[in-house]
Amino acid sequence: MIEIIRANKNNIKDIQAISNVAWPHAFKEILSPDQIKYMMNWMYSDKSLQEQMEMDNHHYFLAKENDKFLGYMSIQHNCENTGKTKIHKIYILPDMQKKGIGKLLLNTAINETKMQNESAVYLNVNKYNENAIKFYQKTGFFLAKEEVIDIGNGFIMDDYVFEKEIVYE
Ligand SMILES: CC(C)(COP(=O)(O)OP(=O)(O)OC[C@H]1O[C@@H](n2cnc3c(N)ncnc32)[C@H](O)[C@@H]1OP(=O)(O)O)[C@@H](O)C(=O)NCCC(=O)NCCS
Repeated sequence: MIEIIRANKNNIKDIQAISNVAWPHAFKEILSPDQIKYMMNWMYSDKSLQEQMEMDNHHYFLAKENDKFLGYMSIQHNCENTGKTKIHKIYILPDMQKKGIGKLLLNTAINETKMQNESAVYLNVNKYNENAIKFYQKTGFFLAKEEVIDIGNGFIMDDYVFEKEIVYE
């Protein structure tokens, strides 16, 4: 059975092991190898992951089956003072995609957002990441806006921002 667990800095190596496979696979036809390397170092170095967890209030979750980690997600409540939760990262190992794990993680994000009484979850997705966009469309997100972000070193992120309203019963 696949379970979703909260991650902490003891899981940094587990998160990196998944990102080292999932990131290049997801972006090989979208970003240059140099940009992939730059972005992975920016977001997944030991120091960066530790800072995200301990200083920036990024909450990490792992999908786990037996002793194997299959995917991760990070979220941040009240991101940029919006009163909404941002899903910063959601990545599943390539051979475990389309088996419902993304939805399990997304449901976790939604439950965590509800516990904060927030109005929506949102995220950035690369405009050319068609698989992820299909997943977000399938799971009830709408296109909120487009965003081009200068991330330094001559690289940009050319993104859509997708949002999903939280429905309270
Ligand atoms: C995007 C991602 C997180 C989705 O997780 P997943 O486990 O593959 O998705 P799920 O199996 O939970 O799919 C949920 C629904 O979306 C649909 N879906 C998922 N990927 C799809 C695709 N590429 N095309 C069409 N539908 C898709 C599923 O069929 C399913 O529909 P259903 O509820 O009717 O059965 C995962 O594929 C992934 O890690 N991709 C690579 C990394 C990435 O791009 N991350 C997002 C960065 S912004």
